[in-house]
Amino acid sequence: MSDSFYIKTFGCQMNKYDSDSISQALRNSGYEQTQQMHDAHVILINTCAVRKKAEEKALTLIGRLLPLKTRSPERVIGIIGCVAQDKGMDLFHRFPYLDLVMGPRTIHRVGEYLSSIKAGGERICAVDITADPVSSARCNGFLRGRVTSFLKIMEGCDNFCTYCIVPYVRGRERSVSAKQVIDEATYLVSNGVKEITLLGQNVNSYNAKGSGGPRFPGLLRELDAIPGLKRLRFTTSHPKDLSDDLIGCFADLRSLCSHIHLPVQSGSDKVLRLMGRGYTRDTYIRLIERLRTARPDIAITSDMIVGFPGEMEDDFEESLRLIEEIQFDNLFSFRYSERKRTVASKLPGKVEETEKQRRLYALQEKQREITLLKNRLLEGTIQEVLVEGPGKRGGEQLTGRTPGNKVVNFSAKTNLQGHLVEVRIIEGRQNSLLGELIDANEAEASACL
Ligand code: SAH
Ligand code: SF4
Ligand code: F3S
Repeated sequence: MSDSFYIKTFGCQMNKYDSDSISQALRNSGYEQTQQMHDAHVILINTCAVRKKAEEKALTLIGRLLPLKTRSPERVIGIIGCVAQDKGMDLFHRFPYLDLVMGPRTIHRVGEYLSSIKAGGERICAVDITADPVSSARCNGFLRGRVTSFLKIMEGCDNFCTYCIVPYVRGRERSVSAKQVIDEATYLVSNGVKEITLLGQNVNSYNAKGSGGPRFPGLLRELDAIPGLKRLRFTTSHPKDLSDDLIGCFADLRSLCSHIHLPVQSGSDKVLRLMGRGYTRDTYIRLIERLRTARPDIAITSDMIVGFPGEMEDDFEESLRLIEEIQFDNLFSFRYSERKRTVASKLPGKVEETEKQRRLYALQEKQREITLLKNRLLEGTIQEVLVEGPGKRGGEQLTGRTPGNKVVNFSAKTNLQGHLVEVRIIEGRQNSLLGELIDANEAEASACL
């Protein structure tokens, strides 16, 4: 019987992508994937270090693995991802039963490390952060039934926003070659994928470091030319690097979806400066205006941090006013979490946890109203929906997304998974839209195209 592996993923889309790459590589080496942690020969926990809570979640789970190791000492337990990179050897001291600690930039060597450990070799700590990022391994059958896929185009970050641990755990910015990206996208499309989301900590500085090859808008144009690729998305972009050329892509490219995630972090110039973000409230607002001019239906989502050191009540109110002014489609907001090694961890003016919590609630309350309003504004409109599969309610319910990345649930008599269909929005809800398929016969017939 072949060995089995289980992989649990915390954190962002890039961590999910990395877990998929690892899964494919291990399947190619003859491992079987299992969803049952207790039965697996190899247990891998892919961790996130961006906030204390994320890190604690992963560490708590690791702490619970001791009985599994005691029961079957030949079982291999590995901690991978951003916490592994951050803590390195310390994890062996804290959890002596670990076999593998592996950072994000060494994951392409996972098969080799596991073979060595299983052959009775030493435990391994692999935290070299200089290796080039690799696009996914390929595995027959892995993509079966997948309509959407991620594709890593760059990794790492050189921005060093003062609160953020990511540059320390993902390393310096490195881009995957355009040829590799195009090959991978073509492969995904020929295996049934209709929508690709390009991933990177800061995608719009793709190839910025003069390695030749196209910059980000050029890459988008090349991808747009792939026949069969219906939709293209990307995340995340930094406002300071959002060029006119990139804004122009939203007007010009047929496959580029009308959505951008553009983290703003704060509405106060003072706080933005302390965060080292490289733009002001005003420049951010002007960027949004230009995006909306290029693509009037563009959905805009963002990230915001409350309680950054030195954030006073009036700074926070500027953040509140900004979300009202911009009317984001959705907002991910976080309490500032102090991360070791970052510049902000040494700043004065720490905000009490209870105060951070109050600000977070106030911000989320306001955003909930805005999100609902934005969703209601779509009532009566006709949206193109890429059908991803059955909805949560089962039966005839299907689910998919609009170009603006909003979830739409609707009913259909046939399985339209993987098809682009037209749906009339009948109700805008807090977290999704309810729709009805337009002229089912017609849509289902044209869906065969
Ligand atoms: N550019 C990055 C952002 C990663 S972190 C990317 O997408 O790859 C995602 C979000 O987490 C950030 O936009 C920020 O809002 C939040 N974040 C990062 N560090 C944080 C910290 N120390 N405390 C609270 N939130 C943080
Ligand atoms: Fe972190 Fe800033 Fe880089 Fe995003 S751009 S990963 S928030 S340092
Ligand atoms: Fe977390 Fe690492 Fe992603 S810290 S947000 S898993 S880059």
